[in-house]
Amino acid sequence: MDLTEAALVRWGRAIGAQASPPLWISLHGPLGAGKSVFARAVCEGAGVGGTLPSPGFTLLGVYRSPRSFPVVHADLYRIERPDELHGLGWRELEAADAVVLVEWADRAGGRQPPDRWDLTLEHVADPMLRRVRAVAVGSVRDLPAPA
Ligand SMILES: Nc1ncnc2c1ncn2[C@@H]1O[C@H](COP(=O)(O)OP(=O)(O)O)[C@@H](O)[C@H]1O
Ligand SMILES: [Mg+2]
Repeated sequence: MDLTEAALVRWGRAIGAQASPPLWISLHGPLGAGKSVFARAVCEGAGVGGTLPSPGFTLLGVYRSPRSFPVVHADLYRIERPDELHGLGWRELEAADAVVLVEWADRAGGRQPPDRWDLTLEHVADPMLRRVRAVAVGSVRDLPAPA
């Protein structure tokens, strides 16, 4: 489906509001597709307030939801080889009982959990819209539908 930014943010907030760990969402799509917009909305929905650091500067932002689970926003744009993730505790992250959002997840190579959502955002002809596809991989709970 094609969503405006407002609709994408609403959806992300609804996902965050209903999220309970473990939830891993890998985000795909080119620069400017809206991965960060969506990831920040999920964090906000999970109750992680205030200004989140601009992704790209921080590879891994770890926050705590008021519902007392960790919320992790990762941006692997600057990763050149998957083995750079070794020092970051990636394995621990995969096993963590957390809500995790990963931009440029492909750069982790195969290092992604077997149970996750793959969400792809794409530009379409209308610059105000983004095409969104969400695919469940493995065994995951449903996400709320975009309103
Ligand atoms: N429908 C839309 N959904 C998401 N972002 C949109 C949409 N329409 C316009 N935009 C704009 O596109 C940009 C997306 O940026 P960002 O989320 O940082 O992309 P990415 O993280 O994928 O590189 C923002 O400037 C946002 O305002
Ligand atoms: Mg981004």
